[in-house]
Amino acid sequence: MIVLGLDIGGSMTKSILVENGEIKGAVQVTASGPLVSAAGAIGKITEELGVRLSSIELIACTGGGSRKIGPSFLGLKTVKVDEIEAIGLGGLALSGLKEAVVSSVGTGTAIVSVRREGGSIVTRHLGGTGVGGGTLIGLSKLLLNRSSIKGIFELARRGDFRNVDLTIMDIVGGPIGRLPADTTASNFGNVGDGAKLEDIAAGLLNMVAQVIGTVTYFAAKAEGLEKKIVFIGSLPTIPEFSEILTSTVSLLGGVATVPEMACYATALGAAIKAKERLGQVFR
Ligand SMILES: Nc1ncnc2c1ncn2[C@@H]1O[C@H](COP(=O)(O)OP(=O)(O)OP(=O)(O)O)[C@@H](O)[C@H]1O
Ligand SMILES: [Mg+2]
Repeated sequence: MIVLGLDIGGSMTKSILVENGEIKGAVQVTASGPLVSAAGAIGKITEELGVRLSSIELIACTGGGSRKIGPSFLGLKTVKVDEIEAIGLGGLALSGLKEAVVSSVGTGTAIVSVRREGGSIVTRHLGGTGVGGGTLIGLSKLLLNRSSIKGIFELARRGDFRNVDLTIMDIVGGPIGRLPADTTASNFGNVGDGAKLEDIAAGLLNMVAQVIGTVTYFAAKAEGLEKKIVFIGSLPTIPEFSEILTSTVSLLGGVATVPEMACYATALGAAIKAKERLGQVFR
């Protein structure tokens, strides 16, 4: 059976093709209205994988934009899957964990716990933060005159966050207990007259990733799952960003991972849930 998972997000639409429990491929397109980007993502994946549209038996839709999708789309049957459930199921499947806190770092950030209770998998929305990929883009437009992720990261690679962030080193001259000397004491608390755009870019990445890492850690800790944190979404696929996310968590005493195909986790979760509803077990 071929199921297409479709995640119509605030910034990007992701599609993943699953045939008999196996991932055949995945693509993403920039959001340009939910219906247009949904059609674009479906067109792109069928073309890239050489799959006929008519061979897709079901489209499992999730993400904010899925509200616009009716009971059929492009002549194919659709089902809607709750985004929180899709985040939890997709994060669990990609990480291989039995239970986890999955933090979806999208335009904003949603944090979900997922556990096996009795014979079923139960997901809960723990909360989140409005700080996410949209914050990074918005502040970069204001402060750096850059709106592309590529441009922001290129700039940040040439910068040094220590020229804008106040570190523990700046305050006490060395480490404090288990906190290394370069731990951030205050994001943007050290901006001098000479701060370059490169340094501001590095400081922005630091701030956004540290806030998400910290909020996720405390949500997971409250669930006793701080050693089983999974980050998904587009930004965590960028190594510099995932490094700050995971090191923030480990500094606090937790363990976090970013699975392969992290940006497709929610789309995959939708496909898994849809198949489950049809009574099929996902491998
Ligand atoms: N090519 C890219 N690679 C990695 N990250 C990107 C890329 N382009 C944009 N981003 C970042 O990813 C963010 C969107 O992430 P993602 O695709 O996970 O969110 P979404 O699903 O569209 O949003 P939400 O889940 O909040 O509805 C953007 O705000 C931007 O910061
Ligand atoms: Mg999303």
